[in-house]
Amino acid sequence: MGSRTRQRRSSTVSRVTHPPELISAETISRRVRSLAADVDAFYAGTDRLVLIGVLKGSFIFLSDLARHLTVPHRIEFIAVTSYGALESEHADPVRLIMDVRHGIDGEDVLIVEDIVDTGHTLAYLMRLFSARNPRSLRTCTLLHKPERTERDITIDFLGFTIPDVWVVGYGLDYAERYRTLPYLAELPPELR
Ligand code: PRP
Repeated sequence: MGSRTRQRRSSTVSRVTHPPELISAETISRRVRSLAADVDAFYAGTDRLVLIGVLKGSFIFLSDLARHLTVPHRIEFIAVTSYGALESEHADPVRLIMDVRHGIDGEDVLIVEDIVDTGHTLAYLMRLFSARNPRSLRTCTLLHKPERTERDITIDFLGFTIPDVWVVGYGLDYAERYRTLPYLAELPPELR
């Protein structure tokens, strides 16, 4: 969460509303259906699956993924943010701003992210949830930027590996814009 937030603070918002396509809506849809099938197969037989979406970016991916699932599940959301550069003395750059509503003790937890960038957010969430005694704890992300990842994290269900470009659309924003683009777009530096 931190890196994307920090990068956009000092930038000017462009008025361009249709940045160039990186991954089409059709390709996303096919991949999300396939991921849902993988999740269904992995959790077949359980009635304790809880999907935890990380706000805000995951809200569209989570809703599409969940609607394709046939395995019983419930939905939770969590929100985290990062300390800014002035607060960088904190050991962990991520902090909790909204917790899940119900406990996860004994449940099969699947964290659902839109993107893993540095990996700080996912590392923080793994530590947070593993202390709450879930029956299992796994991760699902639509996008991963391996070139930027600094933490030793495991992604159990992955949509797409992407290069180190600024991605918007399908839930992902730039200064709160572009989240509802139906496709994933690359926002070139001149549009930031
Ligand atoms: C994004 C994304 C992840 C996080 C990943 O959040 O939703 O939670 O960044 O980054 P990391 O791997 O470097 O920790 P963002 O800060 O863009 O907030 P948002 O989801 O509310 O838009």
